[in-house]
Amino acid sequence: MSPCHIVVVGSINMDLVARMTRLPRPGETVHGQSFQTIPGGKGANQAVAVARLGVRVTLIGRVGEDSFGEALLRSLAGHGVVTEQVLVTPECSSGVALIGVDEAGANSITVVAGANGRLTVQDIESRAEIIQAADALIVQLETPLDTVAAALRIAKDAGVRTILDPAPAPSSPLPPEVMAVDVISPNQTEAELLTGIVVDDLASAERAARRLRELGAREVALKLGHRGAMLCDAEGRVEHVPAMAVDVVDTTAAGDAFTAALTVALVEGCSLSDAVRFGSAAGTLACLTLGAQTAMPSRAELDQFLGR
Ligand code: RIB
Repeated sequence: MSPCHIVVVGSINMDLVARMTRLPRPGETVHGQSFQTIPGGKGANQAVAVARLGVRVTLIGRVGEDSFGEALLRSLAGHGVVTEQVLVTPECSSGVALIGVDEAGANSITVVAGANGRLTVQDIESRAEIIQAADALIVQLETPLDTVAAALRIAKDAGVRTILDPAPAPSSPLPPEVMAVDVISPNQTEAELLTGIVVDDLASAERAARRLRELGAREVALKLGHRGAMLCDAEGRVEHVPAMAVDVVDTTAAGDAFTAALTVALVEGCSLSDAVRFGSAAGTLACLTLGAQTAMPSRAELDQFLGR
């Protein structure tokens, strides 16, 4: 186990996953082929991904007082995530995500926040010491924005590296204090919403990455799905990191695997370029298995994939 410690502040969901030939159009009913409940939630997925890569990780979040909450906590602990700072919220359901996965591995996700929406600034501030002692903090946007801002403020004041995965895509621009992180790791849709630049090829991805730095991020790791990733470092240098082609089973949580592995590589001392390669490989491997936390690669699997 590495001596590093990463703190994740974020959501914890039970994913209700149905496989189908194709996703339904509005008003349409389609037949599904299978159904499974699989632990998910962007924060929890990232915490599990960090743990699977052998780095100590503490998750700060909330589950409901229900059977999903119990199962989610058991699963997190089983993966080695420190769950002492996950609060159980009385008289509240756990977060759930309704996920359809089509035969090409593409998905459609509806999230109901449940207990994730009850995370408070007080919850975060009373755990400031844990964030201050970490090597990095990862946040996403599935808990209230003021909790994200509070966690970032505490980390930045303590000189802790901050990573923002701005997912799900925000419906309005993010405040400057949230954009001002060490690394932002959006996907194409999120980058478009944050910058106003349509990202449909490598040239537009480069423009969007540069714009994200102008908006406050020190460095950018822009996830481009099967096209790989575009990075822009602290000196403004851009680089395209291509992805390896694989037979995709399910893209759910590939972005979470990317952000988690990127952060692990950074706290272990890698350059942004090497960290993006590591993140990209983790995201690719996460596409080979159905589900979110079920798909997070181990360190050995990732090293083997990268030929190390
Ligand atoms: O990023 C994938 C995750 O998004 C799923 O696990 C689902 O819970 C939603 O939060």
